[in-house]
Amino acid sequence: MIESFNLLGRNMYDLDDYTAEELNAILDATVVMKEINQRDYKKLPTLKGKTVCTLFIENSTRTKISFELAASRLSADLISFQASTSSLQKGESLQDTVETLNAMGVDLYIIRHSSPGSPHLVHKYSNKPVVNGGDGRHAHPTQALLDMYSIKEKLGTLNGLKVVIVGDITNSRVVRSNLIGMKKLGAEVTICGPRTLVPGYMDEIYGCKVEYDLKTALKDADVVMGLRMQLERQTEGLFPSLEEYSKHYNICRETMKWAKKDALVMHPGPMNRGIEILPEIAESPQSVIIEQVANGVAVRMALLFLILGGKM
Ligand code: CP
Repeated sequence: MIESFNLLGRNMYDLDDYTAEELNAILDATVVMKEINQRDYKKLPTLKGKTVCTLFIENSTRTKISFELAASRLSADLISFQASTSSLQKGESLQDTVETLNAMGVDLYIIRHSSPGSPHLVHKYSNKPVVNGGDGRHAHPTQALLDMYSIKEKLGTLNGLKVVIVGDITNSRVVRSNLIGMKKLGAEVTICGPRTLVPGYMDEIYGCKVEYDLKTALKDADVVMGLRMQLERQTEGLFPSLEEYSKHYNICRETMKWAKKDALVMHPGPMNRGIEILPEIAESPQSVIIEQVANGVAVRMALLFLILGGKM
């Protein structure tokens, strides 16, 4: 039995609109979905007759495919919009694109776009629930949900844990959603990176700690999350070279000695192996990076189920 709270028909632009109780309801429903994903027959009829559209106008592997798999495992019909072969390439606007898809009977949209706020526009044009699959540097709420689920699954709770997020904070939508969600569930979050990649006032805005020295940041950490160096969003020389960045901030066996023994190692992917994280630690027993991906399917099944009012 899944407790639905009041998620029916809701948008998920970010986690700030959701209470701790609602976030826990999603994580609890994820436990059920994960069990279904471990069966031989991984399908439920619960969203039969509903239509889900993945509207990804920026590249993705994990988020897009896991949402599509989630929709299919719940028996929803799926429209997998391909931006590169669509009429967007002929200059069609986002509004006309959404109104066209809406005319075909979409019940829920998942959008990824390089522009912050685009999920709000999709809701305005469609009047249907919209889940943000990543909008520019703003938010990536389902990544944060799967990160929180992965921690809770391994360590039992987020309450009182020290989570350290290391890397390109400025360009990361993952860090912003995680700061909101993890704080709501009681974690202490420290962000760490070079001064040029950490925006000002993060401590005041998000109630986190800010460190620029990796050794200081990692002291007593229960969880260490590396962030991808977003090479495609770098427009200026914010550090002298990737080698220089890696020398001071990479997550490897040596630097993990500064955290608690057996601290979890996480990364939202895609990884730049050898820059922000070394394979020796990404592939170690401490790492839950592959489990994060698997949990992404379950968390997205839970969310689609709750928003579209599935029954089981
Ligand atoms: N973590 C994440 O959002 O990965 P994708 O860009 O592959 O979806």
